Amino acid sequence: MILEVAQINTFYGSSHILFDVSLEITEGEIVVLLGRNGAGKSTTLKTIMGLVHPRSGKITFKGLRVDGLPSYKIARRGMGFVPEDRIIFPDLTVRENLEIALKKTAKGKGFWTIQKIFGFFPVLEKFQSREGGTLSGGEQQMLTVARTLMGNPELLLLDEPVEGLAPLVVKMLGEIIKQIKDQGITLLFSEQNVKFSLKIAQKVYIIDKGMTRYQGSVEELRENEEIKKKYLAV
Ligand SMILES: Nc1ncnc2c1ncn2[C@@H]1O[C@H](COP(=O)(O)OP(=O)(O)O)[C@@H](O)[C@H]1O
Ligand SMILES: [Mg+2]
Repeated sequence: MILEVAQINTFYGSSHILFDVSLEITEGEIVVLLGRNGAGKSTTLKTIMGLVHPRSGKITFKGLRVDGLPSYKIARRGMGFVPEDRIIFPDLTVRENLEIALKKTAKGKGFWTIQKIFGFFPVLEKFQSREGGTLSGGEQQMLTVARTLMGNPELLLLDEPVEGLAPLVVKMLGEIIKQIKDQGITLLFSEQNVKFSLKIAQKVYIIDKGMTRYQGSVEELRENEEIKKKYLAV
């Protein structure tokens, strides 16, 4: 198991947001955390990444307890996070955005190079001289994912990666996520888009009101109309 989240409780100030949330992720799989708006998806991913610390519970990443560690240490251990707000440098070119990410890794000696990134994201190669801020939402999302890959993560967390994107771009990102998995990277992404998620993931968790309510294979959820109706907007 690459990641084990065991009964975490997360608060914002005095608001109790996550209640005994548990997840288990095996190397090489794609797992989706589904849930409605406000269910606690972002809080779960931020807690795993160390951006918020749980008040109780355990998070074990590659055999080491990481709850309580600062996020940069968790990142160094091999976790990457693409937040839902897709932060890029709008005044820098696409290539410069990637070069900055490369500098931040251990002397850039990992698997991902700018050439490899361009092989995965041809659109970024095409627009490499354009300023990041001129890209479409989908292209900016690809740039954010690409930058995070430059950090050579073993586990990649993506927070609602296709939210608000056009259908064609959603499809492209789905293909890219599968290709990333084929490079041996484990993925955990959150989504509200059930149709997209069931095409991409192998394992599903559903979170509702800060509690993990369901876990199962994609095949099991596909046939479970009751659960989908109860916890997801389908
Ligand atoms: N910084 C914050 N301070 C207080 N409450 C927050 C904060 N961020 C999120 N929340 C609350 O926590 C709950 C879960 O939010 P979030 O994890 O963002 O859900 P999701 O990503 O599933 O939409 C919501 O009720 C939201 O209003
Ligand atoms: Mg969210």
